[in-house]
Amino acid sequence: MVLNLLPRVSCRLAACSGSASIGRVVRFSEVSSITSTPAPLLSTTLRKPLIPTLPSLQTLRQAFSSTPSRSQFVATLDAPPIQSTTTATSTSKFETTSNAETASESKPSISRPIVGYWYLFAGSLVFGIVALGGVTRLTESGLSIVEWNLIKGMKPPRSQEEWDEEFEKYKQFPEYKLLNTRMTLPEFKQIFYMEWAHRMVGRFIGLSFIIPGAYFAYKGYMTRAIRYRSLLVAALIGGQGVLGWYMVKSGLSDEIMEKPHAVPRVSQYWLSAHLGSAFVIYAVMLMTGLEILRANKVKAAQALEKFNALLKPPTVQRFARMSRGLAGLVFVTAMSGAMVAGLDAGLIYNEFPKMGEGFVPSDMWVMSTPSDRNPNPIPWYKNLLENPAAVQFNHRVLAMTTATAVSGLWLYSRRVPLPRYARIATNALLGVAAIQVTLGITTLLYLVPIPLAAAHQSGSLTLLSVALWLVHTLRRIPK
Ligand code: HEM
Repeated sequence: MVLNLLPRVSCRLAACSGSASIGRVVRFSEVSSITSTPAPLLSTTLRKPLIPTLPSLQTLRQAFSSTPSRSQFVATLDAPPIQSTTTATSTSKFETTSNAETASESKPSISRPIVGYWYLFAGSLVFGIVALGGVTRLTESGLSIVEWNLIKGMKPPRSQEEWDEEFEKYKQFPEYKLLNTRMTLPEFKQIFYMEWAHRMVGRFIGLSFIIPGAYFAYKGYMTRAIRYRSLLVAALIGGQGVLGWYMVKSGLSDEIMEKPHAVPRVSQYWLSAHLGSAFVIYAVMLMTGLEILRANKVKAAQALEKFNALLKPPTVQRFARMSRGLAGLVFVTAMSGAMVAGLDAGLIYNEFPKMGEGFVPSDMWVMSTPSDRNPNPIPWYKNLLENPAAVQFNHRVLAMTTATAVSGLWLYSRRVPLPRYARIATNALLGVAAIQVTLGITTLLYLVPIPLAAAHQSGSLTLLSVALWLVHTLRRIPK
């Protein structure tokens, strides 16, 4: 393939059950038992049983505020969810209609399962775009579209004229001038489509999160906390687009033309920020989806106490804290990997476990050591972020620490009375960590071939997923 012939350096871009309590019946008896003199209000509700909007909401609100026992009312709303109107013991007309009405009116104590599935679906899309972003970076396609326009950018060039125009734009930037002067239009089309697909999937994720989210919020399917969280996630998705554009811009700067031997590529800092933000969005989506589905399941089975009791022993709690620390360590290791990718630091020291003569590379601090070749040394600590040898060394150390921590946690898990799923997650973590380390080492030994590097990148998100799943299995459900 033409793409594989392109120089392997430079601009590699990052890379219902319906059983939730929200739609449940608000019984006549519940309301009447807690209100002292709400008869006129209630009769209004009873006269209009099929109108689901504001009047009856106001009625309930007024009834709620005039109640002598507020906590009593809250307690009734917190009761286990009623599966459906057909399973309700009493089937008066008021109950049946109010169930449908209150879907958009009552304040749910847990979000509906469909919200959980929606979060998990969105998370799987984010996983997909991270993998696609990795391939975009590895095929050196990321700098092919030199502008960013949310709406206009959706339409790729069609006619010969449009393609020529787009290619001409690309030719104005360092990547073409320094690396791709022999590139043909068909070759340009390949890298263009790769980057275009990445941006289109990004737009699709934004829409597929915001549109259903707005609908679920409008229908009252989400708790207040999940509504706010969804707003935050929507903002993060928007921010991700902005970060992506700044990352691309960092690779388009003409400054690079002035530096001798410089390679046109995006800044490793922007690349790590873009990848890190994607990991955070993914993590929030995964944890939220799992949290909502489990809360529904446990509450429906009325097994809250039993469930939380399993997590009570001090050893289990300690294990839970360790698993949270481990998930953080996986994240940090992944970010150090992004720095390796951003600096193309996987193309040096292609051996393991040594780096040259020893375990620590001899040029670890070279960028802060003054010499004829380095008249402007940088502060020593900047080596850790800008010197490819040091950056690769960091990634190795963090990866090995992660692998050791996973093994240690697994060994410790043998002595802890873990719930079933927590044990499965711990075992899975050990397996995925072993695969990830193997992929990392082979990626390095074979000089970062695209399939291995892409698998290593997806492996990191898989490892984070399993670590988060373990954390989730050990989280208590609030009452
Ligand atoms: C816990 C284990 C590990 C995790 C979570 C991890 C994570 C990552 C991540 C997220 C990237 C960036 C990928 C991208 O943006 O395309 C990366 C890159 C890289 N990792 Fe790892 N890694 C691990 C272990 C290792 C090991 C043991 C090695 C080898 C000693 C290694 C070598 C590399 C190399 C060479 C790259 C650069 C690949 C490229 O340029 O695309 N990794 N790693």
